[in-house]
Amino acid sequence: MQKLDLVIKNGTVATSADIISCDIGITGGRVIALGENLEGESEIDASGKIVMPGGIDSHLHLDQPTGDGSVMADDFYTGTVSAACGGTTTVIPFACQQKGDTIRAAVTDYHARAEGKAVIDYAFHLIVTDTTEQVLGHELPALIKDGYTSFKIYMTYDALKLNDHQILDILSVARRDGAMAMIHAENSDCIAWLTEKLEQAGDTAPHFHAASRPPVVEREATHRAISLAELVDVPVLIVHVSGPEAIEQIRWAQNKGFSVYAETCPQYLFLTAEDMERDGFEGAKCICSPPPRDKSSQEDVWRGLENGTFQVFSSDHAPFRYEDDKGKKMLGEDTHFKYIPNGVPGVETRLPLLFSEGVGKGRIDLCRFVELTSANPARIYGLYPRKGTIAVGSDADIAIWDPDKEVEITNEILHHNVDYTPYEGIRVRGWPETVLSRGEVIVKGGEFHGKAGRGNFLKCESPLPAKPKYRVARRT
Ligand code: URP
Ligand code: ZN
Ligand code: ZN
Repeated sequence: MQKLDLVIKNGTVATSADIISCDIGITGGRVIALGENLEGESEIDASGKIVMPGGIDSHLHLDQPTGDGSVMADDFYTGTVSAACGGTTTVIPFACQQKGDTIRAAVTDYHARAEGKAVIDYAFHLIVTDTTEQVLGHELPALIKDGYTSFKIYMTYDALKLNDHQILDILSVARRDGAMAMIHAENSDCIAWLTEKLEQAGDTAPHFHAASRPPVVEREATHRAISLAELVDVPVLIVHVSGPEAIEQIRWAQNKGFSVYAETCPQYLFLTAEDMERDGFEGAKCICSPPPRDKSSQEDVWRGLENGTFQVFSSDHAPFRYEDDKGKKMLGEDTHFKYIPNGVPGVETRLPLLFSEGVGKGRIDLCRFVELTSANPARIYGLYPRKGTIAVGSDADIAIWDPDKEVEITNEILHHNVDYTPYEGIRVRGWPETVLSRGEVIVKGGEFHGKAGRGNFLKCESPLPAKPKYRVARRT
């Protein structure tokens, strides 16, 4: 038996497939043995604890230039420290192409932002905003080969959005070269039209953000995104799904056998549009797109997590400070909702919220929790089984949870660089106490002990779930 550097003993080990009692032997940063009575140079006693693969947050924004004067509060250090303290050991933020520029330039820029700072491993999704011949024919294929095997397509936001023709072009590249396409599905023209009507009525306070992007706007775009993917015969993943209208479209496509995957986020389980009506400007703290809906929508989202409609649960952490001239208040408190930076922070609270309300309340079991938060993101973005599981050969990215620890979420206990959390005051049961990244303990007793820059860039494989099913006659 090879000598073990570290053994995690006596824990209940949960993966997306099994819950077993065993020791985990780690050497050279990888899991090399699962068994009984393992012995190592050092040992962690996990009696009474749940030992899970570290979370993979496959949708978050770190240090992403915005172009409107706002500045994200978390860089790759604070953002990944916060992720780690919340039980996450891999992040996949976005490298966003600036219109008119190359995607390669964005990738080079994001590497510079991450290197020397990230404390856990990271990959990048690409955001494609310009579909020139050079991008479609040369850049994307080369980048996919280099390990950037997923990209996000925006159907809204003037600086980012693509029209249907452009989306079809990109989906064709995804199909040909084996990449996963993620789609932000909201109808841009409907939002612009509704915003004009609200403006004419003088309704520009933060909570009118929700009225400018009602569920039908998301439903229409979701159905259109699915139809475009059907036309090209390529899998797609609809990101940050907010409620039953979009869920119905996704379920419809899945029932037809199309490879349509879906992601949701904590804001659609724990916030509603009423949170944007908080006193004064406070509602701005909860502005994100699509907006949080209502209580009954939250129940539909829970059902989608329970019944398999959703494959991925991520944070969509978009860190803008509240009291800051580069954050939510960058244009003061009287500003129009359309100028308030979109997004809510949540990289650290993602897992505890889902664990407490999902596993703790019996809505989902532990295996499904791991599937949604770690195994499926690894599979869908080409990192499995190196990440997303505890198996012989996988990286020893492990979170040891105290399932009984009660915590009141307050911004004070969090490690991000944002000055608020939308989940202030929510009490949760269950918290990741010890977190290992490639076998190194980086969080102990809930506090960070790692070093800036220890995180490695991960090249993603072409994801198996991105393979076309050849169910539809292709027209391209
Ligand atoms: O409001 C949100 N979700 N902001 C982040 C950007 C995005 O579209 O994911
Ligand atoms: Zn989005
Ligand atoms: Zn996002």
